[in-house]
Amino acid sequence: MRRKYYQTRRIGIIGLGYVGQTLAAFLADGNIVTCYDIDKSRMQKIKESKKGDIKEKDLNLYIHRAMDKNKLYFADSLLEMLDKSLEFLFVTVGTPSYDDGSIDLTAVNSVAMSIGIELSKIKISEYMCPLTIVLKSTVIPGTTREFISIIEKYSKRKEGKDFYVVYNPEFLREGSAINDLEYPQKIVLGGSRKSLKEIKEFYEEYYVDSMGIDGIEEMIISTTYENAELVKYANNAFLATKISFINEIANICEKTPNTDVGVIAEALGLDDRISPKFLRAGLGYGGSCFSKDVEALIKYSKEDALVLKSVFRKNKYQREKPLTITDAWLGKDKTVAILGVAFKPETDDIRDAPAIYLIDVILKGGATVRVYDPEVSAEVLISKFDGNLIVTASAKHALKGADYAIICTEWDEFKKLDPNDFKLLMNKPVLFDGRRIFDPKTFIKAGVTYYGIGHGKHDA
Ligand code: UDX
Repeated sequence: MRRKYYQTRRIGIIGLGYVGQTLAAFLADGNIVTCYDIDKSRMQKIKESKKGDIKEKDLNLYIHRAMDKNKLYFADSLLEMLDKSLEFLFVTVGTPSYDDGSIDLTAVNSVAMSIGIELSKIKISEYMCPLTIVLKSTVIPGTTREFISIIEKYSKRKEGKDFYVVYNPEFLREGSAINDLEYPQKIVLGGSRKSLKEIKEFYEEYYVDSMGIDGIEEMIISTTYENAELVKYANNAFLATKISFINEIANICEKTPNTDVGVIAEALGLDDRISPKFLRAGLGYGGSCFSKDVEALIKYSKEDALVLKSVFRKNKYQREKPLTITDAWLGKDKTVAILGVAFKPETDDIRDAPAIYLIDVILKGGATVRVYDPEVSAEVLISKFDGNLIVTASAKHALKGADYAIICTEWDEFKKLDPNDFKLLMNKPVLFDGRRIFDPKTFIKAGVTYYGIGHGKHDA
């Protein structure tokens, strides 16, 4: 593990969502971390169980170990947390979307107000060094400056003198969040030279053992608040664009004999200006960030944002494909098997998952849905939908008596199914392979009606 000469810091974290929990667990390896969330029952649950309430590799191990070593605490109030002479206060509250896609900054602004009120009660001289507040929530340009002015208003204190504010977006991926924190590819810091000094030193010290000083210098970008805010959106929007782009090529392949988008993506990826990542065609992207951030950026741009609007539309088009290609799902007499609900494998997260959209439309069309996912709990699924939804204990159970099967998540266990499973278990073996996990030729030859993504006409 880490940090031979590392000096322990006192850190606070407000907001125990996905980023907050993983960041707290990670930073408590070497620092003293105190967390606070307005959802007291959530905090209590994590404290009592010594486990995160999200599924994330190594998270429980980190939380348990940090709590046993008295490195990770949970405060009853913001004041109690600030009273611990914090050096850094990370703000990781959610920034959801309004119905029109624009960003809802209520939580960020209300945290700014609370910090301001509590800071006004604390004598600044009690701090060994001024507190650096690090905003990590994804926010549109201008938000950090507004965040500062709210804190200044309620604390009657000045940023740059009594406290510092930095904007530092988070790029971690679900399923590899702790690893992404351990080995970041970049650290983007927005703020003035003065406000960035402490946090830069902190990151340099924290990562020096694993990266060396040159490695750290190269990966830290110090810039304006607005650049740092926009980097996060540009990053996610670019990755979403890559996915919609490859899905566009996939659709072109579907109209072109003897083509396969997998081969095309492989060849594209060999060009190091392109890279092979995020070129997997399928039902499109889901999860907590991509759709939300692309939409928020479209709203924010107030321009025509032609590229981003197309990326967004393409993603919608792609997730509707299993329903537009056949009507094998439509009507009270039909049963549809949905294999995989999580927005990607190795997570139980169903936010903006294509499967959730598909189940909803299919149930509304009157059919029965038999659904299986190795990680998403039956309670979560049943509470989400009205209609004939049956949650099964295995993929094969889901296939029983179905007229149509749709693969929505590329879980490894689905790859072990063979054409006979579909032929013998289903009422009619009609398959939509939304994640390209099977070889179309084998399935077609075996007598399965196979619909896929990105296979040239003669193959599928
Ligand atoms: C993403 C960003 O990668 C991360 O930097 C940011 O902090 C949060 O959003 P995450 O939501 O965990 O992370 O998922 P990611 O692994 O990036 O996948 C997003 C979606 O794109 C998934 O639905 C995935 O199935 C889909 N995807 C990904 C594709 O369809 N094709 C690909 O080639 C890659």
